[in-house]
Amino acid sequence: MKNKNKVILVTGAAGFIGYHLCKKFLEKGFSVVGVDNLNSYYSKKLKKDRVKELFKLKKNFKFYKIDLRYKIKLDKLLVKYKFHKILHMAAQAGVRKSIKYPLTYVTNNVLATTNLFEVVKNHYNVPIIIASSSSIYGQQNKNLFSTNLKTDTPIQMYAVSKKSTELIAHSYNFQYNIPVVALRFFTVYGPWGRPDMALFNFTKKIFKKETIEVYNNGNHYRDFTYIDDIVRKVILVCDKIKVNEKDKSKNKFLVYNIGNGKPHKLMKFLNLIEREINLKTKIKFLPSQTGDMLGTHADMRKFNNDFRKIKNTPLKKGIKNFINWFKKYYNLNVTR
Ligand SMILES: NC(=O)c1ccc[n+]([C@@H]2O[C@H](COP(=O)([O-])OP(=O)(O)OC[C@H]3O[C@@H](n4cnc5c(N)ncnc54)[C@H](O)[C@@H]3O)[C@@H](O)[C@H]2O)c1
Repeated sequence: MKNKNKVILVTGAAGFIGYHLCKKFLEKGFSVVGVDNLNSYYSKKLKKDRVKELFKLKKNFKFYKIDLRYKIKLDKLLVKYKFHKILHMAAQAGVRKSIKYPLTYVTNNVLATTNLFEVVKNHYNVPIIIASSSSIYGQQNKNLFSTNLKTDTPIQMYAVSKKSTELIAHSYNFQYNIPVVALRFFTVYGPWGRPDMALFNFTKKIFKKETIEVYNNGNHYRDFTYIDDIVRKVILVCDKIKVNEKDKSKNKFLVYNIGNGKPHKLMKFLNLIEREINLKTKIKFLPSQTGDMLGTHADMRKFNNDFRKIKNTPLKKGIKNFINWFKKYYNLNVTR
């Protein structure tokens, strides 16, 4: 079957990672149906612009404004299309907001994910990839996060909701043999990135000459992972995951880390941004915020064994690509 006849459903298609996945699948010749409720967690314009870009790319892209907290439209979509694979990226992201607004995480992550699995189970079996997060590791005694570690002590509601989506997926896999792979993403960055994340936030503030607030006195470190590397890893998983009609035991529930495997200090990250923009800004050091993790470091050995090792984009290059996109998107003609 030609790729064009294979329809991929991407939820959260107007979001950062969802957009990049749609783009890659369209480039590979697949038909893509994108779904998003275009919520206002951050700039709706940015979300709409991502969708516009996808429409510019290829004709075989369809977009539906659907809120996964409600099942009816989603149900109709599964009747209209016979999806080849589903990539469930839609979620209420953001660790800090989850402390103040826990219910938003329960409805958009826990309820919405349950709705998706309910609808799928009522129609036909299809492999599902779900976006999980490094945040579910919480506070560990070990610095290297392996998927063998226990993840039952989340430290904020974002992590609770992401762990819950894995548990929901596990139970639907067990009950209905839906093949599922949960991917624990580690601090994703790159062009078309999220305004609430460090790279976007720091860049914006440097250009505006505003003071940057750095928590935990700058001692945080993160396994920053460039978006193209994430996409390539997701594609490898997607190529492998299939429904096995004959041997149902082969329709497994699997979990992988999707990170870089090489963490960097937040301060190094910030210095690289300043150097790339060639502007310095004021920094205000603050204590750690409740719910923040000190560091993240993805153990990628399981992924590398089961798939293959992918050469990651160097941090400097990834930051440069982001800043080039940022300047173009916001029409910044910076004279140095
Ligand atoms: N970006 C990261 O560093 C990172 C790290 C770990 C995990 N993740 C996970 O990866 C996925 C994608 O993250 P992202 O960075 O692209 O976030 P994002 O906020 O840019 O994208 C998520 C999209 O989902 C949509 N959405 C939210 N609730 C919805 C609902 N009820 N119905 C339909 N659409 C809804 C939003 O409008 C948004 O466009 C999320 O599940 C997130 O939790 C991201």
